[in-house]
Amino acid sequence: MTTNEFTKLMPKESIDALFLEAHTQRSFQPEKLDRSVVDRVYDVIRWAPTAYNASAMRITVVESPQARERLVAHMSQVNKEHVKNAPLALVISYDRDFSIGMVEMGSPQQLADSLAGNDELALQTATMQVAYLILGLRGAGLHVGPMTGGDFTAIHDDLFQGTSLQPFMVLVVGSEPTDPGYRPRKGRLSAEQVVSVI
Ligand SMILES: Cc1cc2nc3c(=O)[nH]c(=O)nc-3n(C[C@H](O)[C@H](O)[C@H](O)COP(=O)(O)O)c2cc1C
Repeated sequence: MTTNEFTKLMPKESIDALFLEAHTQRSFQPEKLDRSVVDRVYDVIRWAPTAYNASAMRITVVESPQARERLVAHMSQVNKEHVKNAPLALVISYDRDFSIGMVEMGSPQQLADSLAGNDELALQTATMQVAYLILGLRGAGLHVGPMTGGDFTAIHDDLFQGTSLQPFMVLVVGSEPTDPGYRPRKGRLSAEQVVSVI
């Protein structure tokens, strides 16, 4: 599908905002960003597909200065400053108890029981959901920096001890990047390299 074909489904501005012009951002103007945007975006992206219709992703908004400081301490050196200054910092986890909510969403108890404790599925599902979340935040006109550079065992032990949440990613979110040209975009594999037919 060319970009032109795509625009039959989605306006060009949306394709640009989600993919073509969108660029990972890590540092933002310091203006406040209301955390309610996270709820509004989640309300939309929750409808994207997951295996067994499981919802394993959990989002923690790191709002208090104390929690933010503790999170920063566990991020790798290159990420610390970005996490410290981001208008919004989100810790993304998978919930080891994700199967508990499945019956309420319409799955049979037997299915929920058979998936209980399946951390691999939980991580896979939450990873898909965070990708949807990134695109949803972009769709809301925001810029996002996903980060896995950090000690997530320490983040768990410090901020999520005693819960069923397993953090695995941090998202920094803002509306105005301070340096949109930072780290110019690298290439991507072409469809020719990626798509095969058997
Ligand atoms: C799962 C994931 C983890 C990432 N971890 C980091 C990170 O720890 N620090 C960082 O500066 N960028 C991180 N990035 C950003 C990527 O390097 C960036 O999204 C990628 O190079 C594409 O850049 P572009 O959007 O500017 O084209 C991460 C991205 C993803 C999706």
